[in-house]
Amino acid sequence: MISTLAFTPAVARATDHLYAKVKAVVPRFEWELHAPLIARIHELKREKRAVILGHNYQIPSIFHGISDITGDSLQLSRAAAKECGDALRIVFCGVHFMAETAKLLNPGKKVLIPDLAAGCSLSESMSAADVRELKRQYPGRPAVCYINTPAAVKAECDLTCTSGNAVEVVESLGASEVIFVPDEYLAKNVAAQTGVKLIGWHGRCIVHEEFSAAQLGAYRRQFPDLTVLAHPECSPEVVAAADYVGSTSGMIAHLDVVTTPRVLMVTECSMADNVQSAHPELEFVKTCSMCPHMKRITLEGVVRTLERDEHEVTIPPEVEGRARRAIERMLEIPLRTRPR
Ligand code: 13P
Ligand code: SF4
Repeated sequence: MISTLAFTPAVARATDHLYAKVKAVVPRFEWELHAPLIARIHELKREKRAVILGHNYQIPSIFHGISDITGDSLQLSRAAAKECGDALRIVFCGVHFMAETAKLLNPGKKVLIPDLAAGCSLSESMSAADVRELKRQYPGRPAVCYINTPAAVKAECDLTCTSGNAVEVVESLGASEVIFVPDEYLAKNVAAQTGVKLIGWHGRCIVHEEFSAAQLGAYRRQFPDLTVLAHPECSPEVVAAADYVGSTSGMIAHLDVVTTPRVLMVTECSMADNVQSAHPELEFVKTCSMCPHMKRITLEGVVRTLERDEHEVTIPPEVEGRARRAIERMLEIPLRTRPR
């Protein structure tokens, strides 16, 4: 089915309005390969009553071309809980822990992911047994896990957090010591903003751990008119060297108040491509920092998933209820500001 798709005049008519959003970063010849798949996905979405959630790290043709709702982990969790309406299927263009979150919040819908192997180094860094052992070593402390964890880890924790609300979540507990896993750097960066002692783990994001303060210094010397935005999965040294630190959507929102002509987003490289059309006035200094897990999601994979109804995300029944509660408790916490 996929190999027969061609860039016909009908495909051009159905997709030209979408090309306008990506043409600054997607060459025309590439778009002519993507557009037939995008047109087919829109047909399949109607036929299968599917909604597509797309994370900020997806390629522009997925982010702008096929996603109904886009955002960071917190926004996509909220959307999964509230905005999927009468859709029968959710196709998650992101990584597995995000699709699991969507399933936990939508137990009655079929949640599909185009590639079940789209993992995450943080999510794979800790098991449920590791959390139980940490709780045994530090009895009585509440446990918070980053949303970048499997459902089995969430089930062992009191509540989850994302990069957009971690400070609020930790402070909501009113405790002087909190178990906060698995991201070592996020724990250090959150601890620096609260008076709470965080008991962490040694998980790291393979994308964000690669950045260094020395590298940021070199960029600043090369481009003196540069604003640097960093994700809190970066090391505390990188965070200290940035002008703004926040979740992927926090970084996107911050672009509205940037006053320099150049911006460096210290995060996954598709982010800059996805925001270019909304900010033609900005020049993005790009690093080659790709998340191999996020990039397992392709337009061809989305077509296959929808046509075959394949790669359904399921949650082990023994952890389902407790994992859902940990996410719902997070969603009940009001954000003091817009997502950071
Ligand atoms: P956000 O919640 O900020 O989108 O981050 C998710 C993630 O995986 C970052 O690497
Ligand atoms: Fe996980 Fe890092 Fe990829 Fe985000 S960028 S999904 S934290 S490996």
